[in-house]
Amino acid sequence: MTPPRKLHIKSYGCQMNVYDAQRMVDTLAPEGFVETANADEADLVILNTCHIREKASEKVFSELGRLRVMKEEAARTGREMKIAVAGCVAQAEGAEITRRAASVDVVVGPQSYHNLPKLLAQSRSGAPAIETEFPIADKFASLPAPKPAAIRARGVSSFVTVQEGCDKFCTFCVVPYTRGMEVSRPVATIVEDVKRLADNGVREITLIGQNVNAYHGEDANGQTWPLGRLLHRLADIPGIARLRYSTSHPRDVDDSLIEAHRDIPAVMPFVHLPVQSGSDRILAAMNRKHTAADYIQTIERFRKAAPDIAFSSDFIVGFPGETDQDFSDTLALVTQISYAGAYSFKYSPRPGTPAADMQETDTALAVPAAVMDERLAQLQALIDAQQASFNRTAVGQTVEVLFERTAREQGQIVGRTAYLQPAHVMASEDIIGQILPVTIDSLERYSLKGRLAATHAAGTPRMPSILLDSCNGA
Ligand code: SAH
Ligand code: SF4
Ligand code: F3S
Repeated sequence: MTPPRKLHIKSYGCQMNVYDAQRMVDTLAPEGFVETANADEADLVILNTCHIREKASEKVFSELGRLRVMKEEAARTGREMKIAVAGCVAQAEGAEITRRAASVDVVVGPQSYHNLPKLLAQSRSGAPAIETEFPIADKFASLPAPKPAAIRARGVSSFVTVQEGCDKFCTFCVVPYTRGMEVSRPVATIVEDVKRLADNGVREITLIGQNVNAYHGEDANGQTWPLGRLLHRLADIPGIARLRYSTSHPRDVDDSLIEAHRDIPAVMPFVHLPVQSGSDRILAAMNRKHTAADYIQTIERFRKAAPDIAFSSDFIVGFPGETDQDFSDTLALVTQISYAGAYSFKYSPRPGTPAADMQETDTALAVPAAVMDERLAQLQALIDAQQASFNRTAVGQTVEVLFERTAREQGQIVGRTAYLQPAHVMASEDIIGQILPVTIDSLERYSLKGRLAATHAAGTPRMPSILLDSCNGA
């Protein structure tokens, strides 16, 4: 029997890449590959890359430099190490990668992972094997279903892809070019995956997609389901206690989704709804196709249906042409909404996107680096303050926590609240996988500390009551 070959995958970027990494492991398992945490002992290293900002893609090339040294080292001891580049940089740059980094054996785009075994075999000829083909439908059809053993290792919370790709073409964004057009998985295959996960102890499912609420998968009768209906179906699966979804686009929030938050207790009251900017002028230049007022109205629809709901968002500062006034509009929107957290980024021009061309043809539009730094710091300070104040409202409250694993500190178990806040208690490992009420005693930076509540008082709100007050009419 040949000894197992070792596979090391390093993922960058979004949750979709994390999920895809696991699917690549599943695809390569029949080829005799087992995962290793150490790149230097691997027979195959896959960099699962992200192209979203320049920094993210440049990281890949510095990592490839390090891997080349490891590969040469391995060759000296008579061992062959293969290097593959997957993910969005692979899709965007294709053969350019092997031109810049000759040690790369395989370049594979996100829609072609099912062909990894074939590509590896092809690369044995000595020339690199490159595949960056669409369409995406093949991928959903031909990837193996998650394996129970692998599922168990993933714990109580799991991602499930329901949709991939994006047709929105925001002018700053590479995703429509790297992931292709929107495709939704059929209802039945998602239900099957979730059932299998539930049978293996998974309690929480996060449905993922680049535009998850654009979901429009077909059922067995050829009927198209919106995300809200899918959430209803998944909430019925025994064992599934929590449902989340990410990432949503403000334009695709339909009534089915709002009603899901109102009617399904398993749908968690925490929504990531990126807005990018609070300025209508910039939103139009970004091709977001909504105004700040539309976004606020959407938030209000959610709040009306589920008063305990909280939001996070993404922001870009320094988009071409962003003025002080535009930036003030962003601060005003953040102040008005009050987020439980948010990510903010400096605009990074991406080759081939309309915004990068805008800036190239009119350099006066470029926001100076120092101004970008200043705006980012200001926005992050505001968001940090909002996040801290949101987290503080949990102190003294009894909230439900899904326990996930042992913590670093001996005897502690860590889980997450409905708002994804980490919460630590002293308890036995038996509570892993359970949702239990916890009285929160303190907040330490981003994590909560508490104790298991003796009994869960009926009607305990899922969230601090202070926030319930502030939701009225905000
Ligand atoms: N599909 C999601 C997220 C896409 S990428 C959405 O529609 O919002 C995640 C985040 O990266 C984006 O929300 C945006 O804030 C940021 N981002 C995307 N392209 C960027 C760029 N060129 N420069 C800086 N940030 C960018
Ligand atoms: Fe990118 Fe816009 Fe699509 Fe989000 S909606 S993935 S930001 S193009
Ligand atoms: Fe990055 Fe591609 Fe995800 S560009 S954010 S890995 S879709």
